[in-house]
Amino acid sequence: MKVIIVVGARPNFMKAAPLLRAVDKANGRNPSPIVPVLVHTGQHYDVAMSDAFFADLNLPRPDVYLGVGSGSHACQTAEIMKRFECVLEDQHPDAVLVVGDVNSTAACALVTAKFCYDSAGHRPLLGHVEAGLRSFDRSMPEECNRVVTDHLSDLLFITEKSGLHNLQNEGIAANRIFFVGNTMIDCLLECRERAKTSIILDRLGLSERCNSGRSSTRPYAVLTLHRPNNVDDRDAFLQILKGMQDIAAEAAVVFPMHPRTFRKVEEHGLSSFFSVLAATEPAHPPRPGIVAAAPLGYLDFLCLLMHARLVVTDSGGIQEETTCLGVPCVTVRNNTERPVTVEKGTNRIAGTTSEGIRDAIRVQWAGTPEFSIPHKWDGHAAERIIQVLLNHTVAHSAPIP
Ligand code: UD1
Repeated sequence: MKVIIVVGARPNFMKAAPLLRAVDKANGRNPSPIVPVLVHTGQHYDVAMSDAFFADLNLPRPDVYLGVGSGSHACQTAEIMKRFECVLEDQHPDAVLVVGDVNSTAACALVTAKFCYDSAGHRPLLGHVEAGLRSFDRSMPEECNRVVTDHLSDLLFITEKSGLHNLQNEGIAANRIFFVGNTMIDCLLECRERAKTSIILDRLGLSERCNSGRSSTRPYAVLTLHRPNNVDDRDAFLQILKGMQDIAAEAAVVFPMHPRTFRKVEEHGLSSFFSVLAATEPAHPPRPGIVAAAPLGYLDFLCLLMHARLVVTDSGGIQEETTCLGVPCVTVRNNTERPVTVEKGTNRIAGTTSEGIRDAIRVQWAGTPEFSIPHKWDGHAAERIIQVLLNHTVAHSAPIP
């Protein structure tokens, strides 16, 4: 069986790495091996946004690199579709796995769902990893990508129970939905020990040597922002920065910046909010204030999260990672597509006004909320997915209606 695994943007890499490892594991006991083909669309292409993750996650070089780069949503999606169709023609896979909710996910799902090997309509089986999440906010490009991808997929792999309700409410048959857990958490659990060896805290001046020679970590917060809603509009960005002012007066706030966010800080003239702008080696020792840094690799960022007293973010994945790590999280959005992180985890939805953000930070900074690890976030999601795939590709001799 040949399976294409599609990646394109930064949050895809940690969701795909466990799938490749699960394929290897299954091949150890399966007489007819699965042949994985890793396709990278090139949606993210900078070393810091892509290559650094391949290195940290021990991902093999992509078998196919489409090199689409940036563009408007329509141009980027269309370019991925055109190039991915040629990949299906060349590779003739039995199945295609797409992960997450980025443009690469929806583009490759659309191509796979319409692809035909013969006049009987045979085509590769399409699986969506991280299906069923809904923010119910169609102004988010990711929400459109989720809905499209889910409705086109044959096999829907959900990370939390809300996904089952969402998909059934939209009329998707229960026998196509599989509650497998979370491959991003598989990755986190697998990499946690290696992340402990990262020297990022020393580099950022966040740890200090005690008299005993051991190092201790100063309480600090982490900030990440990249959503167009939050950073493209100057007033929206300003609200968030104002909401950060109290905590920034008390502690260091490390802010590894997405390239778009970095550009917007300059365009909006907001540099004065940061104690160091775009430094790779911020000042030692850090003063209270927002310390801007370049984007970090996976292991460095995981180390930074693990030791943080608080994380403020608009990322979906980081809401899940902080839940797993038990680190208080403030989400700078009006909603989340990952409600389990609020119900069970350490996440609090703050909205996007400076008052709401300030209040949520005050509560979360005061202490770790009660939390538990969501069901099946146990490091075995990818293995479950590959097992489902094996069961279905054997049975998949006719197009799924
Ligand atoms: C994409 C995803 C988003 C995900 C985020 C993680 C979509 C619609 N959005 O958003 O869901 O949370 O990735 O980072 O797919 N850029 C670079 N270098 C790169 C990549 C991008 O400088 O390697 C810049 C380009 O100017 C580009 C902009 O960032 O125009 C946005 O990149 P894009 O891939 O379109 O969306 P993201 O905001 O990264």
